[in-house]
Amino acid sequence: MKKRKNIITVAIDSPGAAGAGTQAKLIAKHYNLFYLDTGKIYRYIGLLKLNYPIKFSYSLIKKEICKMKIKDLENKNLLTDKVAISASIIAKDKKIRNIVHKFQQKYAYSPPIKYIGSVLDGRDIITVQVKDAMFKFFITANLKTRAKRRYKEYKSLKKKITYKEVIKSLRNRDKSDKKRRYGPLKKTKDSILINTTKLSKKACFRKIKEIMDRKLNN
Ligand code: C5P
Repeated sequence: MKKRKNIITVAIDSPGAAGAGTQAKLIAKHYNLFYLDTGKIYRYIGLLKLNYPIKFSYSLIKKEICKMKIKDLENKNLLTDKVAISASIIAKDKKIRNIVHKFQQKYAYSPPIKYIGSVLDGRDIITVQVKDAMFKFFITANLKTRAKRRYKEYKSLKKKITYKEVIKSLRNRDKSDKKRRYGPLKKTKDSILINTTKLSKKACFRKIKEIMDRKLNN
């Protein structure tokens, strides 16, 4: 894979619903970076498994990932809790992670030319995907806050789910994502911790921007 030189790379890891996607989008927009929500790729495969339980195989995944366009990741069907759970199950599989890896690498290191860099968020971005990223943020918030935010999101999308189900699902996914063998979620020493529990979206972005500008303007 050919890597573009002198690009800005931002890597973000976070547990579900911590606000990483929101911050990643703000970063991307402000600095003209290509944004890849890597969770959506796992969700895409998770949905594939729900839709084709019998046909589901590594070759089917490879074929689908090959065909997949960035636009496909905007599919609203990827936003259900059922799909999130399915994603966290298939995400434990090393072979599947390897298939997804190639797709992510391409966008991280060779983003479309109109962008001056990339921002990726997920669970293993700092630890595996973009280890040499220029900026590394570990974004988190306490479970209750995350569950409240996700519940609000589901309600605005008219999804039938209770707050109790959301908190249970997030707790289970946290456990599975942290304990799994391949690409587990963990904070590295060299990443900057951003706790969004008591921070508004704006305040959080201000903090990130300050850190990034300091380095970029040096
Ligand atoms: O970020 P999101 O909640 O959409 O991710 C769905 C699931 O995909 C996560 O719970 C996790 O198991 C998996 N995932 C992953 N590695 C990533 C991004 C997401 O394993 N880089």
